[in-house]
Amino acid sequence: MNAERLRGTRDFTPEEMRRRHFVESKLREVAGRFNYGEVLFPLFEYTQLFQLKSGEELAGHMYVFEDKSGRSMCLRPEATASVARMFGTSLRNMQKPVKVYYYAPMYRYEEPQKNRYREFWQFGFELIGTNTRESDAEVLLLAVDCLKELGIEHSLELSHLGILRTLLAELGIDESQQDHVIACLDRKNINELKKIVKDNVFFDLMEVRGDKAIEKARGMLKGYPKVVEKLDELSVIASLLDSAKIKYSINLGMARGLAYYTGMIFEIRVLGLGAQNQICGGGRYDNLVKLFSGLDEPAVGFAFGFDRVLDALEMQKIEIPEQEKVVVVAPASMDSREKAFEIAGQLRKKNFRVDLDLMNRKLARVLEYASSIKAKYAIIVGLKELKEGKVVLRDMNRKEQKEVKIQDLEKILIGN
Ligand code: HAM
Repeated sequence: MNAERLRGTRDFTPEEMRRRHFVESKLREVAGRFNYGEVLFPLFEYTQLFQLKSGEELAGHMYVFEDKSGRSMCLRPEATASVARMFGTSLRNMQKPVKVYYYAPMYRYEEPQKNRYREFWQFGFELIGTNTRESDAEVLLLAVDCLKELGIEHSLELSHLGILRTLLAELGIDESQQDHVIACLDRKNINELKKIVKDNVFFDLMEVRGDKAIEKARGMLKGYPKVVEKLDELSVIASLLDSAKIKYSINLGMARGLAYYTGMIFEIRVLGLGAQNQICGGGRYDNLVKLFSGLDEPAVGFAFGFDRVLDALEMQKIEIPEQEKVVVVAPASMDSREKAFEIAGQLRKKNFRVDLDLMNRKLARVLEYASSIKAKYAIIVGLKELKEGKVVLRDMNRKEQKEVKIQDLEKILIGN
């Protein structure tokens, strides 16, 4: 039997899960503040759902299989397509804009490396039913707020695919070819790009980034009023970010691996995470919901690579609150085991984190165990003290102990 774990997958220990739960709960808090509600959808879907508009890159990295009826299925490589599909059924009657978030594992058959897994988690947000610059800006604010909540230093890069798409259309390049051009741009495959696009204005525009990017681009696009309209959209988003005091940099050469984006796009990176330092990505996708639900609803959203968020926390040495203190209940002898059981039960009812010796160990061994798991207290239950309704409370750090009444235990433990 092969008992190895598959490449690109991980197991998580209780301590790792504790850290993950902490981050998850912080992200949920921020989602709540922006009034987003949680959704969930199946782990596998028809392959087509992700083939149609997710892009060349993703299509080549899917876990595809046939079910017993010969239908082609896949493990979801991302969730925006699932939410767009779901909009047509379960979300269509909700008040607009529909604001949903999800926390779920995704599967991509990529070459595993540091921070790149075959099974990884995304914490994502989708805002469906509006195409205003305020909605673009609010989504960016939400992403940044999540990172601020966790205290993660980051950099935000912004662009607008409408600029490139409209320019390409003006240059006579149709939508499916545009998708290919954008995929090449994402992979920085300039040779391939040069085979398709012949005009220098495209290549000049791709190089525009940093301070005064919008002014620079405006200068280059004099003969392309329709493209300038898209640039103006980016300019409005940028001023909304300025007024919210959000730092960003514009890079018109940015593209995203997924083919459904139509407008504003962005990526958030954390320096020092190595080659895979993009912890968040997203943008506006105004045609996807219509494609899967028949309902013409614009949308915008993003997803955090949850695992990378955790890595960023660790790298930036951001502390996660310690686990609540553990109390170990230790019977002093076999005769007091029953009473120890009872005391442990009472404390658990009051929500203390209680560990009871389950291995019939001698008192000295139980105390060693308590100090090895960094328990704050041990409660030693012995017949002599029990006769007076008492137990011995031992402070494991101070190595001090005193007799206390059983009925006072709760008060004393809370007070410490
Ligand atoms: P994405 O950029 O493909 O976008 O993925 C979002 C994030 O997932 C990335 O920024 C990265 O942090 C993380 N990620 C991607 N692949 C891996 C991997 N192999 N291992 C670890 N983390 C990874 C999307 O998936 C879009 N659905 C985002 C979106 C939502 N756009 C609009 N709405």
